[in-house]
Amino acid sequence: MIADVRILAGEALRLSEPEDKRDRIATMVAAVESESWPMAADGPVNIVPVVEVGRSARITYVAPRDLKRRTWGSPAGRFATLHALAHIEANAVNLALDAVHRFAAMPADYYRDWVRIASEELSHFDLLERRLAASGGAYGDLGCHDGLWDIAVRTADDVVARMALVPLVFEARGLDVTPGLIERFERHGDAESADVLRIVLRDEVGHVAAGARWFRVTCASRALDPVPEFERLVEEHSLLLVPPFNVDARVAAGFDADDLARWSTSFAGGRAAPGGSN
Ligand SMILES: [Fe+2]
Ligand SMILES: [Fe+2]
Repeated sequence: MIADVRILAGEALRLSEPEDKRDRIATMVAAVESESWPMAADGPVNIVPVVEVGRSARITYVAPRDLKRRTWGSPAGRFATLHALAHIEANAVNLALDAVHRFAAMPADYYRDWVRIASEELSHFDLLERRLAASGGAYGDLGCHDGLWDIAVRTADDVVARMALVPLVFEARGLDVTPGLIERFERHGDAESADVLRIVLRDEVGHVAAGARWFRVTCASRALDPVPEFERLVEEHSLLLVPPFNVDARVAAGFDADDLARWSTSFAGGRAAPGGSN
């Protein structure tokens, strides 16, 4: 039943550490991949309040202005970049679980997509945590900011806004910035981290594509025109679409090349610049 997967997602959401969510995510993946799923109609789910979602106890949250500037020339600077990316992936695990848990009465394929994405986000976190370990550190060694979870809180009551702002703004921003990160890790002799980010970039095209698909579906169910609605939501939440865009990756994920060209020149959204999200 879809309700069972949504209940498991809620249990996983309440756990603090990404690793502790692994067993439940594996159970969810096995469920949605079984031929008999979903077996019966949706049932009731007690929703986890968005403020009770588990956050890693290892992390100290700091204001964005208090984060140290990253310098690529030093191992400490590259470690800080890997740490920030691991934090994005830890948040992305919760965001995918939250998409499964919080929103009822969606098609079975919606839950299949976001369960698969939760599993991929956890694998990205694992890969980055291994890179942190190879550098002699661990997740939790540095402070992090909380901007990505803030957008989850602000979109907790509306699946249309969630699909627009998390996959289509933040994860899509990841498509734009990741090729530059790959190039820099390569240039500074860290081919292993570059290889991890190539896996991340490949998977993230699929995450943005899922977001684009479900944004269109949910817009259609409310008779909303997707492109104007996307632009309205970006402005309402004071986000920015920041060119240059990774046009190839974004078009592969379902963005329209004409919209991207227009946003590059005339539409910028609201005030606050988004960071990348994976
Ligand atoms: Fe990711
Ligand atoms: Fe993602």
